[in-house]
Amino acid sequence: MTAETLAHLMKQSNRTVVLTGAGMSTESGIPDFRSSTGLWRNINPRIVASTESLQKNYEQFREFYQTRMNSLNNCKPHEGHLILADFEKRGLVSLIATQNVDQLHQQAGSKNVAELHGNIVTIRCQKCGKPHAKEQFLNNSICTYCSGKLRPNVVLFGETLPSEAWDRTLHEIHQADLVIVIGTSLEVYPVNQLPSMSKGKLVYINREQTSTSLHYSFDLVLEGSAGKILADVYQELGDFEK
Ligand code: APR
Repeated sequence: MTAETLAHLMKQSNRTVVLTGAGMSTESGIPDFRSSTGLWRNINPRIVASTESLQKNYEQFREFYQTRMNSLNNCKPHEGHLILADFEKRGLVSLIATQNVDQLHQQAGSKNVAELHGNIVTIRCQKCGKPHAKEQFLNNSICTYCSGKLRPNVVLFGETLPSEAWDRTLHEIHQADLVIVIGTSLEVYPVNQLPSMSKGKLVYINREQTSTSLHYSFDLVLEGSAGKILADVYQELGDFEK
């Protein structure tokens, strides 16, 4: 059961959805959350990444996201992101539904991307919702229009997912005959429900099996680094396109 098997499944599939998590970005230098070196090993997400933190300890909330936003300046898409964008161009992937907030899929050239957890690249006022420049959040400004608190367009713990991204993903998942899950522990609801909503074949690419992933009956599990496995699949596919 190898990259060759996945390449074969992709050739057979008419609609393939890719679901990515933080493990898709670690090779670009962005830490994930729950592996041994993950962000949540040292930080309690409720204190820095929840609606409660936005309301009750805004300075800590703002500092956490300023740090994460600044660290993105040194990160760029890795080979795995570029390969997924190429697969989209060749009609091999119809949608990337991502939990990641770094927009590396878009930077790599993927056009059809659903940001299920929003992003930390764009900013809005928490009170009036008006968009603001990233620099205004980074230099501790308040809302130009209502003096409200500025915040990134990321989905915080306690917030609902953006309906457009969720609905688009649901639509594609229901039509998909192949769902490739890459670099996610599948610990977070409701995204972790998506694989079981598909009638198609399920593939899991992850550095390790997680307590949650073992609950799914994946048709194929490829343990290893996302970048390396995607490069192997790319090799197996040659110049095949739909
Ligand atoms: N290749 C393959 N898998 C990897 C790689 C890699 N290079 N690096 C890390 N992984 C795996 C880890 O072993 C882990 O199982 O990716 C998984 C990432 O899981 P999490 O850290 O839980 O990240 P994710 O599943 O995306 O978290 C979901 O939780 O905190 C919230 O909103 C945040 O979107 C995030 C959500």
